[in-house]
Amino acid sequence: MTEALIFELSAPGRRGASLPEADLPMQNPSSYLPAGLLRKDAPELPETSEIDTVRHFTRLSRMNHGVDVGFYPLGSCTMKYNPKVNEEVAALPGFSAIHPYEPGELTQGALELMYRLEESLCEITGMKRFTLQPAAGAHGEYTGLLIIKAYHASRNEGTTRRKIVVPDSAHGTNPASAAVCGFDIVKVESNERGGVDLAALRKLMGPDIAGLMLTNPNTLGLFDENIAEIADIIHEAGGLLYYDGAN
Ligand SMILES: Cc1ncc(COP(=O)(O)O)c(C=O)c1O
Repeated sequence: MTEALIFELSAPGRRGASLPEADLPMQNPSSYLPAGLLRKDAPELPETSEIDTVRHFTRLSRMNHGVDVGFYPLGSCTMKYNPKVNEEVAALPGFSAIHPYEPGELTQGALELMYRLEESLCEITGMKRFTLQPAAGAHGEYTGLLIIKAYHASRNEGTTRRKIVVPDSAHGTNPASAAVCGFDIVKVESNERGGVDLAALRKLMGPDIAGLMLTNPNTLGLFDENIAEIADIIHEAGGLLYYDGAN
């Protein structure tokens, strides 16, 4: 990389912005902060002019690879192509500038939009309920796995159904989320067409299976043509199917 570190661009005394002299008397922080919170040495911050700082970070940002500049093979959840009009609408200040603690009477428009989206998603998928709470892909996985866990616990199978099956093509967050939820992870191989190997899946089934985390289309960009059969196999074994989608 040819770009210098911001610390290498630093020169003692250089400032990004100069503020006028304060017209209030200066206070020593030790007069109002506990001793344990006071710094002994000044922080080692880079000293750069505004234009050097802006140019440095602009040059770095141009090195980013993303869907706007080329093919993006993984990270399809967060980084995938979203139509720009969607980005524009989501960034409208009426949505993006809402504070999490803003009172309900001031956020009726956003709440209505979220409610209607949930209703539409229920109608499209045939599900009874939807949640827009998870803030990212792995957060959604975590939510799904906690539901699987609660389901088995409600049937007094929480201690026996400990295994989550994860295909070898899965996003790395799948096994990580299952581990965070306290499950054991079992890998299922892919077949020569890039889908789940049905024979290998059947072999794994048993009373200890809690569920299968399936991404469809998967991370290879392939739609699993055996999805109905895969769902039957896992359901017949008493497990639940967590469903994600990539690409
Ligand atoms: C299919 C799939 N599942 C889960 C994730 C995890 O999503 P996030 O990075 O938003 O936590 C990704 C991320 O790219 C993904 O592509």
